[in-house]
Amino acid sequence: MKESITLTDNRTGASVEIPIVDGTVDSGEWASLLPGVYFHDPSFGVTSGAASAVCELDGEAGYLRYRGHPIEQLAERVSFLEIAHLLLFAELPTRPQLDAFAGEIAESASIHENFHKRILEGFRDDAHAMGVLVSSVAALSTFYPESKDVEDPTVRRSQMIRLIAKMPTLAASAYRRLVGTPYVQPDPDLDYTTNFLTMMFRPLEGGFEVDPVLSRALDLLFLLHADHSQNCSTTTARTVGSSHADPYVSLSAACGALYGPRHGGANEAVLRMLQEIGTYDQVDDFVAKVKTGERRLMGFGHRVYKNYDPRAQILKDTAHRVFDVVGKNPLLDMALKLEEVALADDYFVRRKLYPNVDFYSGLIYQSMGFPVEMFTVLFAIGRTPGWLAHWDEMLTQNSRIARPRQLYIGEATRDVVPIDQR
Ligand code: SDX
Repeated sequence: MKESITLTDNRTGASVEIPIVDGTVDSGEWASLLPGVYFHDPSFGVTSGAASAVCELDGEAGYLRYRGHPIEQLAERVSFLEIAHLLLFAELPTRPQLDAFAGEIAESASIHENFHKRILEGFRDDAHAMGVLVSSVAALSTFYPESKDVEDPTVRRSQMIRLIAKMPTLAASAYRRLVGTPYVQPDPDLDYTTNFLTMMFRPLEGGFEVDPVLSRALDLLFLLHADHSQNCSTTTARTVGSSHADPYVSLSAACGALYGPRHGGANEAVLRMLQEIGTYDQVDDFVAKVKTGERRLMGFGHRVYKNYDPRAQILKDTAHRVFDVVGKNPLLDMALKLEEVALADDYFVRRKLYPNVDFYSGLIYQSMGFPVEMFTVLFAIGRTPGWLAHWDEMLTQNSRIARPRQLYIGEATRDVVPIDQR
């Protein structure tokens, strides 16, 4: 069987045979046959927008790999910073490499005092932590103007270290401002995730110890969220970065895309959905509303995965380890019932709707003491190395500026009527 397609322009009878390479056909081939004719695919459902070596997922087979490593093995064996190194530099670090990398991150974790006094204090008291994060990441751009030199790999590397280092500090600062407690500076003697939990929850009077089970669980959650190929927010980072904007505004845009409830905002929406359902015996009524289209089952469905999201299974197992320490989340039974009812109902089976990464993550976050406004912020911390790896890859590939064509559906040409005659 020939791994190719033949495209024929019936207007001219001209045709071209195009090889199918790794599941794609190259646009250059058919563009020469069809000048001025474009494939229309607004949500990129069947269009590849990048050639990437960072992450591979297969929706039918249900696998996820970071630089070729299966997510199940990574989840069992490595830390989030090892994943960050893998995504950014294409290899898991040796012990000395990891120590050096973690040291660079620790040294860059603090944020300028002006940030707290003049930027964070400028927000309303009830400002959503994601709105604060989107703004804060963009504001970092003004502290590091040299980051505009995006074509210099050394400059890019410095900013990538800064962003991975500062995201937890910005996140914890957004939380401390939300709850009205003084900011806690990063402690370079603590590991990445323990340091974050300390900045988040250490009381003024100190005497705060992070439970290693919780630190490892959160580290695993960060790792599971680290990358996911050309999802909405990563595509945003690559698109904004393709204009050669600096990495801070590129990642701020990615944070903005992640904030939406169809994407990273879904973990917050799941918790609010469970709280709205209220009780175990209301689950069937809610599912009935989903099937009429009146409601959406948040945390279910995925553009790529047409069976169980591999991350959701790992999260489900992690949830039990966290609940052993902090007590079971009372919403867990309802979530399990919701999953059971949906997976047995033809509406969901026919549409291949299964739990995604957001269905269980919020239950874990809530049990660890995070308010729902912080859930997507936690997703952003985890996704930062993925966003950066794609941003860096796009620049290494000397990609052209992203500029899609369009299908024009507006008015035909028409004359302007002077205002007094309109
Ligand atoms: C993430 O892309 C990534 O990789 C994202 C992510 C990552 O790591 O970056 O995996 C993280 O964003 C996970 C997804 C989190 N979002 C949610 O949980 C929100 C709820 N799910 C959806 O709104 C939806 O499933 C999407 C946005 C995730 C996917 O949307 P698609 O691919 O555009 O699917 P669709 O809207 O075209 O739905 C196809 C059908 C429709 O029914 P019909 O019109 O065929 O009758 O399935 C239905 C939809 O109505 N459907 C749902 C549903 N999701 C899809 N019906 C009820 N509840 C849902 N959740």
